Amino acid sequence: MTVGEAWRGIAAEEVEEVPADWTGLLRKRTRRLLGSVAAPYKRPLAAVALAIVVSNLAGTAIPYLVGLGIDRGVAGVRHGDYGPVAAITAAILVCAVGQAALYRVFVSGSGRVGQEILLDLRERVFAHFQRLSLAFHEHYTTGRMIARLTSDFESLNDMFTLGLDTLANAVLSVLGVGAVLLVLDLPLGLVCLAGFIPLYFLTRWYQRKSTAAYRATRNAMALVIVQFTESLRGIRAVHAFRRQARNDELFGQLSEGYRAAMSRSFQLLGIYWPGILLVGNLSTAAVLLYGGWRVIDGQMEVGVLASFVLYLRRFYEPLAEVSQFYDSFQAAAAGVEKLAGVLDEEPGVPMPLHGARLPPGGLEGAVRFRNVRFSYRSGVDIIAGFELEIPAGQTIALVGATGAGKSTLARLLARFYDPTEGEVTIDGIPLTALDQHSLRSAVAMVTQESFIFSGTLADNIAFGSPDATEAEVVAAARAVGVDTFAHLLGDGYESDVGKAGSRLSAGQRQLVALARAFLANPAVLILDEASSSLDAPMERLVQSALKTVLAGRTSVIIAHRLSTVEIADRVLVLEGGRIVEDGSPPALLARGSGHYASLHAAWRESLV
Ligand SMILES: Nc1ncnc2c1ncn2[C@@H]1O[C@H](COP(=O)(O)OP(=O)(O)OP(=O)(O)O)[C@@H](O)[C@H]1O
Ligand SMILES: [Mg+2]
Repeated sequence: MTVGEAWRGIAAEEVEEVPADWTGLLRKRTRRLLGSVAAPYKRPLAAVALAIVVSNLAGTAIPYLVGLGIDRGVAGVRHGDYGPVAAITAAILVCAVGQAALYRVFVSGSGRVGQEILLDLRERVFAHFQRLSLAFHEHYTTGRMIARLTSDFESLNDMFTLGLDTLANAVLSVLGVGAVLLVLDLPLGLVCLAGFIPLYFLTRWYQRKSTAAYRATRNAMALVIVQFTESLRGIRAVHAFRRQARNDELFGQLSEGYRAAMSRSFQLLGIYWPGILLVGNLSTAAVLLYGGWRVIDGQMEVGVLASFVLYLRRFYEPLAEVSQFYDSFQAAAAGVEKLAGVLDEEPGVPMPLHGARLPPGGLEGAVRFRNVRFSYRSGVDIIAGFELEIPAGQTIALVGATGAGKSTLARLLARFYDPTEGEVTIDGIPLTALDQHSLRSAVAMVTQESFIFSGTLADNIAFGSPDATEAEVVAAARAVGVDTFAHLLGDGYESDVGKAGSRLSAGQRQLVALARAFLANPAVLILDEASSSLDAPMERLVQSALKTVLAGRTSVIIAHRLSTVEIADRVLVLEGGRIVEDGSPPALLARGSGHYASLHAAWRESLV
């Protein structure tokens, strides 16, 4: 397997994401985003822009004043008239100090506004990521997500801190200086501007090449990031299967690709920068020769020639800097474009701001699936025309073969996804009509892979109920048996559970997740393989706890172990997205030949 083959699949989306061309439509979306984040800062932005324009004008005036000083001031001094030289010196001082002062205003102002804008944008992106549906997160890789919040912002930051400064300086210098040169002396000005013809073509060439080179480096970097994050996220599998050497090799090859791509960009700069230098030096030589000849001929004053030579430096140097700016501009444009792409994603399960009014006593928890059809992104229907009614307070056991659609039903009930057709209601209220707050009190789900966050045991139990008191946390913990190991952790409920709960065993993590759900006290509780990692004695303990916790609460329990299922009032057997059996455990067993009965028989056999 070559590197290309190995990573094509994983990195395809990452690479495609690099805009082939950031003009046209892509730029419109980007512009809209930039416009909206900059809108609250119109005034400070205008002030900053004014500062840099005036600062540049002041700077541009200095060489002109120097020339004037040589021609008029010195001539005046010869006749004993110190007025002109004093006035010109004062003007130069004012310009120099003014330029510096306004430049300071620009640097500190643009830095401050830039950081405020980045802060707003960062908060917006995070909030948006959180609201995007699970369907989005399933296909958006962690590497890409990290890139959005780090390197994209980094590139924007670079543009705010260095790029804008360079660009403003260059554009204003070139325009201002160009105009002054033509006014000072038209023929000599034209000689200077002639240097622009080769520069124009050189710059066009560089832009074209560097856009392609830049894309190549982005793609190569994306591959490196994907390989890096995938390997390290899967570090346990890497160790288990001794994949280190092969991963080293792949990483080496991908990094080599990045090195080669970067090196190609530097080759381009290696032509562009010296090219500018060459044109600049030739122009200066031409100006000195032609200008000197005109001065000797008496067609031009020597001060004007001095101004020209001083101006030429301000003319070509910023151009080399612009090429650097161009790179950071491309990075920022690509970054903003991707951020705009994320912000344009509609949340798949939008919550209303003002949800339906709940009954004063809270929800009772009567669940109904009405003619529900659902498919994941693949478009294949997992369930269709699905009907189910669960009276309030009933404990349902959902059983069925792997892939039957049990977790899918649970996710629809927890509103992780919305049905493609039909609706799911609680007490007659569609889930889509509930706001964030009501939905939280309506349903909670505990899954097999319960996520434990860094922090204390108590923090994790109170995750879904931040207002819970310490006593309530401890009571929930007791109810499911977290107290059996909490005291072993050192600081009891205040113990740090480590990154992703790494200090807890898999079963202990499940208990914490159960406690978390019980504390949240939802009308409908869903347990999807929530006790699968517990040993038999612990499961029995949890089960007896479940009986009290589930009493009077609608609950859906999904489990492969039938021992978990025995506390249910009603068993639903799911097959290929359809309910094939429905009844109380004894009733289904009594049938003797049904799915549940045969599952039960198989389970009994496995026990002996
Ligand atoms: N996120 C997803 N994206 C696409 N297809 C999915 C996704 N999750 C599940 N599926 C598909 O939906 C079908 C039902 O899966 P589901 O997870 O609901 O099964 P299950 O009954 O919970 O199985 P198990 O007992 O193994 O947990 C499967 O064919 C599976 O391939
Ligand atoms: Mg499942």
